[in-house]
Amino acid sequence: MKLAGNTVLITGGASGIGYAMAEAFLEAGSEVIICGRRENRLMEAKSHHPNLHTIVCDVSLESDCRKLLEWTTTHFGDLNVLVNNAGVQRDLDFTGGLSQFLAGPNEIRINLEAPVILSGLFIPHLTGKSEAAIINVSSGLGFVPSARMPVYSASKAGLHAFSIALRRQLVKQGIQVFEAVPPAVDTELNPEGRAKRGGFRPPLQPEEFVAAVMKGLASNVFEMGYGMSEGFINASRAELDQSFERMNSGW
Ligand SMILES: NC(=O)c1ccc[n+]([C@@H]2O[C@H](COP(=O)([O-])OP(=O)(O)OC[C@H]3O[C@@H](n4cnc5c(N)ncnc54)[C@H](OP(=O)(O)O)[C@@H]3O)[C@@H](O)[C@H]2O)c1
Repeated sequence: MKLAGNTVLITGGASGIGYAMAEAFLEAGSEVIICGRRENRLMEAKSHHPNLHTIVCDVSLESDCRKLLEWTTTHFGDLNVLVNNAGVQRDLDFTGGLSQFLAGPNEIRINLEAPVILSGLFIPHLTGKSEAAIINVSSGLGFVPSARMPVYSASKAGLHAFSIALRRQLVKQGIQVFEAVPPAVDTELNPEGRAKRGGFRPPLQPEEFVAAVMKGLASNVFEMGYGMSEGFINASRAELDQSFERMNSGW
């Protein structure tokens, strides 16, 4: 796809990978709209890039997703790219039963159901637009699950499968479906889990990952990994099993 001249909506675009994508699309000469739940973070992003457009939206709520469609398509009729980037990650221990899962944000709703609903809502608008695309941000953990983050891993595996199937369905409609597959990146994701691991901060910065994604988009690479996650995308089943054992040796 071309990187310039698009009108791009990025969910969760005020921080981390989404913000780096917003900056990269702006830099390439596209119009960018970002959304998220925290208005102060959206305003902070806008203070750095006054030409960013912002809207508060909780993608876990279908009603908010519908309002997002109405607002963006009313004000940005040329919108041709949807980036499903918003996500949350939790360490979840099921050995004690269901209680932890029910006590916090629902990763299935935010990481998987929201991209499904937003894709469904925006497809009629995207149909017929030049260079129309949906870009889903999944995870290397969708290919090799983490025992520490079982629901997160499952939500991202689901998003991976959805991306493959949707890509095929939308060929005739002229909407390209891309999947960006991050490895561990230094962002605000899963602050509690990372704090438990001694304030773990992966060395990879979002800008470096996003630079690889933008390169991939420009060359129509439909699944874009980086470092370890690029290895996962291209691995055999036996190699995936080896990676699983290595990553989860403490369990
Ligand atoms: N960082 C990594 O190591 C890594 C690895 C693999 C995949 N990923 C994926 O990359 C994507 C971006 O994450 P990140 O690492 O950049 O973390 P991040 O900085 O925490 O960004 C996540 C963004 O999603 C937004 N968000 C969360 N829940 C939302 C909701 N219900 N509605 C609307 N927005 C919501 C957050 O904003 P608000 O809180 O203001 O809503 C935040 O701006 C996620 O899908 C994540 O799973 C990250």
